[in-house]
Amino acid sequence: MEHVVARTGRVPTAEELGFLRERRVGRLATADAMGKPAVVPVCYAVLGEGEAAAIVSALDEKPKRVGVEKLRRVRHIRENPEVALVVDDYVEDWRRLAFVQVRGQARLVERGEAGFAEAIAVLRAKYAQYQAMAIEERPLIRIEGLTANSWQGSGSGGDDLPRPTDLPGIVQGRRSVRGFSTRPVAPELIRQAIAMAGWAPSPHGRQPWRYAVVERQARKVALADAMAATWQAQLELDGQDAEVVHIRLAKSRERMLTAPVLVVPCLYLADLDVYPDADRKEAETTMAIQSLGAAIQNLLLAIYAAGLDGGWMCAPLFCPDVVRESLGLDAALIPHALIPVGYAAKDPIRRDRLPLDRLIVSWE
Ligand SMILES: Cc1cc2nc3c(=O)[nH]c(=O)nc-3n(C[C@H](O)[C@H](O)[C@H](O)COP(=O)(O)O)c2cc1C
Repeated sequence: MEHVVARTGRVPTAEELGFLRERRVGRLATADAMGKPAVVPVCYAVLGEGEAAAIVSALDEKPKRVGVEKLRRVRHIRENPEVALVVDDYVEDWRRLAFVQVRGQARLVERGEAGFAEAIAVLRAKYAQYQAMAIEERPLIRIEGLTANSWQGSGSGGDDLPRPTDLPGIVQGRRSVRGFSTRPVAPELIRQAIAMAGWAPSPHGRQPWRYAVVERQARKVALADAMAATWQAQLELDGQDAEVVHIRLAKSRERMLTAPVLVVPCLYLADLDVYPDADRKEAETTMAIQSLGAAIQNLLLAIYAAGLDGGWMCAPLFCPDVVRESLGLDAALIPHALIPVGYAAKDPIRRDRLPLDRLIVSWE
């Protein structure tokens, strides 16, 4: 049966749906037949675009024996399908505050009904935790007939705020950005960032790192294709759902192809000390890897301070030979990461940091 939904409001824009897709948690408001409200934090995913867009959320409560009918939100939806979901960014810099609120009509969708399998796949692609949970054994909440309103602070648009120049500002401001605008990046900024990376500490001062820079689109496509083939095989080996594999590969490919520049930091061990015993050999390699991490952090800080943003993709670590061959690199170089660089399309979500008293485990 087709569900006809009444809509009294504005259809969500592509930007609003993009905002919702990128965030991890929303607050779902429901009300009973008398209008008594309840709000609950939910994980959710967005399907489709424009008028056809829908939001789905799994009923994943633990313990499993709690019947879904006992959940307040389910009882409410049965009595009154009108719901609202708000997703927001809170940051102390109030220029970057933002929220999107959607309203719509919710219903429960059971396994086997149209759209159920797609919703499960999209939820599992967004939340790795769902891959190990039998969410398909319970109905899903599906919200349709979406209308939206939203607000963004003046500084939420990506690269329009001046970058900090003080150390805490740069260190805390650096963020992993996974979507870039088409604005090109001046090669000189990449050269300067790589020069800054070179100031990282390194074992014996030998600087066991080198960088491949990929700018040409054809090169990016070839690299993405080569890496995707290996990654697909690995995900299938993990027994992952074909649709989840497809979504994850597509996202990763898009990330690589839309970034104006890719920097591939490589480990270079040829200048390090050589030891006859395995333990010291391994320690020497570990030092080089630690040092590469420090160099990448310098690179990311320099990129951020220059008004750009970067991300960190670990994928080359899982297929160094494929990356080396695709980029035509010397056999002595071991690709360890892939850093997409560009101007942020929008501000990403920041993850909370552990409090200091959990980081410092002893001080005597
Ligand atoms: C060694 C390493 C590997 C990472 N690999 C990935 C990756 O493959 N994909 C990704 O999206 N982020 C990756 N990240 C980025 C982290 O997810 C990110 O740094 C973390 O969530 C904190 O967010 P922030 O960088 O915005 O502060 C990686 C980070 C490190 C240090």
